[in-house]
Amino acid sequence: MGSTEFAQEWNAARYATNARFVADMGQAVFDLLNPQPGERILDLGCGDGALTERIVSAGAHVVGVDASSDMVNAARRRGLDARVMDGGSLDFNSEFDAVFSNAAMHWMKRDPDAVISGIHRALKPGGRFAAEMGGHGCVAAITVALCATLQERGVPNPAGLIPWYFPTADEYSARLERAGFYVESIALIPRPTQLPTGMRGWLDTFAIPFAKSLPENERDEFLNEATEKLRPALCDAQGRWTADYVRLRFLAKVR
Ligand code: BEZ
Repeated sequence: MGSTEFAQEWNAARYATNARFVADMGQAVFDLLNPQPGERILDLGCGDGALTERIVSAGAHVVGVDASSDMVNAARRRGLDARVMDGGSLDFNSEFDAVFSNAAMHWMKRDPDAVISGIHRALKPGGRFAAEMGGHGCVAAITVALCATLQERGVPNPAGLIPWYFPTADEYSARLERAGFYVESIALIPRPTQLPTGMRGWLDTFAIPFAKSLPENERDEFLNEATEKLRPALCDAQGRWTADYVRLRFLAKVR
């Protein structure tokens, strides 16, 4: 998940409290990867290594990379081979049977083609790329609430602060094909997701690039205002919050 792009900051302890569900909901993309004993697999955006560890348990040799040193340190504490590396400048050549990524590539907004060509370069001939990321329309309501609240507070061009890349299946397929992949499957999957620590927990973890456009003493109030905008749409009568997630899940192979 880690990326050095925009102003997102990663804190492994905060992530574990507010966002453990991200790895917990990774079963479908794990199944799509279908790791085999003895395979060499790259986990791109490994975060604190919760899913990396599961791939290792399947008998694969896994290298995890993440742009956040805090996340990489958390992954190393699990005994994993984790390295600090930016998704846009992957430094591997024809050495992996598969590349895996969960909930990370939407943070790599600046140059998606550089990310994809680094993955292609990292794979052996015939290697596979199994991934899930936010897709077109993901957290749309949350994004609108954050931008509208910033606009009310006089921040110019809040849309320019959106740190996420949420492509359609068509757009992403075209990028994969251009980079030399054959796309076996790709689909946008709406997945309303319950938030264990509510909208404030989610915003505290993921909306940092928006909050940082304001002076520190205004950030808490800003996040409360955005939360209240979202309450009628995303909080149920029992006080449970749901985020409007849409996933893009795909399997591609080196042509
Ligand atoms: C995710 O972790 O899947 C995610 C993070 C921020 C925005 C949307 C999705």
